[in-house]
Amino acid sequence: MAINKSKSIKHNGSKLFVFEKDQNFSFLGKRLFIIFGKRGQTRGLHAHRKHNQYLICVNGECEVTLDNGHEIKKVILKSPEIGIEIKAMTWSKQVYKKKDTKILVLCDHTFKERDYIRDYLIFKKIVNEKKKEKPNILITGSLGHIGSYLIHNKDFVKCFNQIYLIDNLSAERYVSLFNLPKYGNFSFFNIDLPNHFVKKIVKKSDIVLHLAATTNAEASVNLKGKQKKKNFLSTIEVANLCCKYNKKFIFISSTSIYGSNKGIVDESCGKSDINPQSPYAVSKLKEENFLQTLQKKYNYNNFVILRFGTIFGYSIGIRFHTAVNKFCFQAATNLPITVWKTARNQKRPYLSLVDACRALIFITKNKMFNGEIYNILTNNYTVNDILNVIKKNRKIKVKLVNSRIMNQLSFNVSNEKIKSDSFTFIGSLKEEISNTLKKFSNLNQ
Ligand SMILES: NC(=O)c1ccc[n+]([C@@H]2O[C@H](COP(=O)([O-])OP(=O)(O)OC[C@H]3O[C@@H](n4cnc5c(N)ncnc54)[C@H](O)[C@@H]3O)[C@@H](O)[C@H]2O)c1
Repeated sequence: MAINKSKSIKHNGSKLFVFEKDQNFSFLGKRLFIIFGKRGQTRGLHAHRKHNQYLICVNGECEVTLDNGHEIKKVILKSPEIGIEIKAMTWSKQVYKKKDTKILVLCDHTFKERDYIRDYLIFKKIVNEKKKEKPNILITGSLGHIGSYLIHNKDFVKCFNQIYLIDNLSAERYVSLFNLPKYGNFSFFNIDLPNHFVKKIVKKSDIVLHLAATTNAEASVNLKGKQKKKNFLSTIEVANLCCKYNKKFIFISSTSIYGSNKGIVDESCGKSDINPQSPYAVSKLKEENFLQTLQKKYNYNNFVILRFGTIFGYSIGIRFHTAVNKFCFQAATNLPITVWKTARNQKRPYLSLVDACRALIFITKNKMFNGEIYNILTNNYTVNDILNVIKKNRKIKVKLVNSRIMNQLSFNVSNEKIKSDSFTFIGSLKEEISNTLKKFSNLNQ
């Protein structure tokens, strides 16, 4: 259900309300009807199996209740400026509140009685059956920066039936479990990977999204012994189980496995363009290679490797080690923004959380489990590009510092491969920075 406003044009005392396809409604109309309602009357009380409608109250006042089986919304329509798209499989009811209330309805099909569901219990039964057709997903590392965005995102949550969450709470993002959407079926397991208990959950899942990792690339330089191998061992365990039980596996790798400064690198680049600079990135590459070994050895192709750019954008489990978020935190707390000496004009790949989530939905819906690798990034930016956006929101001071991994080369990564499968990137650095800074809105202004 989408509620939106028309374009209204005033001319010589008269008013014109314009509703357009794609701006207001998403379909081509085939039928139009007008209802002259009686005050106090209730109409509707049905859902359509496949047909979509767009509803405008051209006169009077009407209370519209919309129920998609997951949530119920009430909207009062009392101006011809507002329209509502009522999508297929939405139970709707209209109560005519005033005398002379008139409703105009545009439909994408001609009348067919068989498209109507007039019994609410049957409607609920169909919704529940459709829900069961959805896959179960296991998300490891689900409380982190990316995971917490996904499990609070309506479009993502609605793609799945059961959502199993695993996290060892090493990052202490307990808050990510607050206020999970009520239309999702979540179960949480406090598990530290690798751990034999995960086998039970993998068996119950159709898709495994593997996010669990110790993620601070800079700090990974100082990891020792078991901690150093933990990311690798966790991925090996989960990948082996997915291979054994032929589950769909989404492995989140990183564009930090590149390190070439020779123009733009893509997924098909040679070994000379693969140059991971931190133990974190070295491990990601080893984990990718392990999956490719399973592919060769067992003909296991039911996986996809997504090389994510550095994430920007707010989620409830946000972390602040990475460039954009860290700079936002420093700007908001009046600290100097620490920039690695050589990094100001270096380009690096970045990914907005909005696009990360949309890409995961796209991969799942289009069943792109084909043993392929895709670069997932909104754009390549320099540190200066990021600082310029922050400067528009806050006063900043910049301090140049040394870093053990600052000799990492500048690199530009191509996102053409996934785009050629008709995926579009829509994330905005400007919007995400402004959203993140707004979270600190009462601080040091
Ligand atoms: N954020 C980025 O910029 C970025 C970029 C590229 C790739 N990635 C990858 O995406 C994934 C998620 O990143 P994020 O930013 O959400 O990281 P994050 O650090 O915010 O979250 C990782 C989560 O995994 C959990 N975890 C860590 N080790 C675990 C283990 N052994 N067992 C169970 N849980 C464990 C942590 O408690 C944390 O909640 C990681 O694999 C990361 O390498 C992230």
